[in-house]
Amino acid sequence: MEKRAKEVGDIIKNSKQIHIVSHIDADGLTAGSIAYKTLERLGKDFSIEFVKQLDEDVIKNIKDKNYELVWFTDLGSSVSTSYTDINMIITDHHECPENSNKFFHLNPHLFNIDGGFEISGAGTTYLVSKAIDRENMDLSALAIVGACGDIQDRKYGKLMGLNRDILMDGKKLEVIDPKIDIRYFGRETRPVYKLLQYANDPVIPGITGRESSCITFLQEIGIKLKDGDSWRRWIDLTKNERSLIISNIAQTLLVKGFGYKITKKIIGEVYILEKEEEGTEVHDAKEFATLLNSTARYDKFDVGLKVCLGDRDKYLKKAKNLLLGHRANLVEGLQFAREEGIVKREYLQFFHAGNGIRDTIFGIVTNMLINSEDVDSNIPLIGFAFRDDGQVKASARGTEELVEKGLNLSAAMKKAASSLNGMGGGHNIAAGATIPKGKEEEFLDLLEEEIKNQLRL
Ligand code: C5P
Ligand code: C5P
Ligand code: ZN
Repeated sequence: MEKRAKEVGDIIKNSKQIHIVSHIDADGLTAGSIAYKTLERLGKDFSIEFVKQLDEDVIKNIKDKNYELVWFTDLGSSVSTSYTDINMIITDHHECPENSNKFFHLNPHLFNIDGGFEISGAGTTYLVSKAIDRENMDLSALAIVGACGDIQDRKYGKLMGLNRDILMDGKKLEVIDPKIDIRYFGRETRPVYKLLQYANDPVIPGITGRESSCITFLQEIGIKLKDGDSWRRWIDLTKNERSLIISNIAQTLLVKGFGYKITKKIIGEVYILEKEEEGTEVHDAKEFATLLNSTARYDKFDVGLKVCLGDRDKYLKKAKNLLLGHRANLVEGLQFAREEGIVKREYLQFFHAGNGIRDTIFGIVTNMLINSEDVDSNIPLIGFAFRDDGQVKASARGTEELVEKGLNLSAAMKKAASSLNGMGGGHNIAAGATIPKGKEEEFLDLLEEEIKNQLRL
């Protein structure tokens, strides 16, 4: 991969004008920002755009502009063998089509590395940036935020594979510091009871989702909730208080019959951005990623980009405001999906959100649901939602256990969608697709057949 990264880097060095196209999620924003910084430092003439997906409209628009070179980040692998009339380079980590091993295409799957957890789109982009100039190693912090945005730390409770090498670059430069701590979201900025209320992966039975139970739980073990007027956050607690909470959560899980494997997921590595101020959303990689997910998914690309590029003033404030809306939308989305009801079939379960959930955050909602108490984790979960262009978006999520048994949602979604003139792809554990409206039932039949075959092998 290093050699390919260098080759891709050489193409950049030999081009004058470059257009970056990236994805709207946290990994896409960080990938795009790494590319942005790299080109800025090289003094190139460049531009950037963020898109939901690489559909025909986006491609047509790119072609019309006649860019000298187009740099796709965190997407593009799906078009690596088509559109030979676009002069492109790709740094992506989604599953690749066959015959896509080209000199301009950097993707871990081409080198037998799993792009689902070993490296993200931001990480792949970082490899090229580092190959161009080792001075760019400070950008490793953004690459770690991207990996956390794609939940690549979930499989082992810490980042592994190439992500670990990137982490070591960041550690050496003192831009990022891995620490062992509670893995629940919101260590830096949320009141402790809120951290418990939204605890997911694993959920804490009797506590997750119940505000008053969270407060009682903490009071009963003697944790003071407030310091004067302000709610205490995880980072405000003493070491003993943190251990006490962790051991009580572990006990609750074990008593409820969760095994050791699930229980130990509550602790793992967390990633601190050392140059950032403590207690802010940009100090913890996971919180940083969620902040970014609140921007471009709502068409506010500039806000996410500016925060990645270092604005800690006006744009950070804007991002924080967007975060409030994003949180409310996720809570509402989860509620909505539950009310609609999840329908179980033999090899999958599904729900249809219709117009109830914004298509750009729909994948996150499906992701939160597969980890929740009311969903069967033994079969994959598929969600449908209407897109604003009249088509239907599908998001599929599985578990590590299912992947170990042979599940590959990317392949299954791609195949089922293609049979209906749609498109799909992604990773083995998480994939998406777009299909024509009215074809949902047919799609589920095709998909179920694929999944059944995968799990039987
Ligand atoms: O488009 P992209 O590659 O950035 O998105 C990856 C998706 O895979 C994310 O939605 C993330 O939540 C999901 N994922 C997951 N579980 C993992 C790894 C990734 O649900 N273990
Ligand atoms: O949209 P959602 O979060 O469900 O997407 C899950 C994963 O599938 C992401 O990595 C996304 O980039 C990918 N995907 C894809 N092709 C599609 C839709 C989604 O590769 N048509
Ligand atoms: Zn990604």
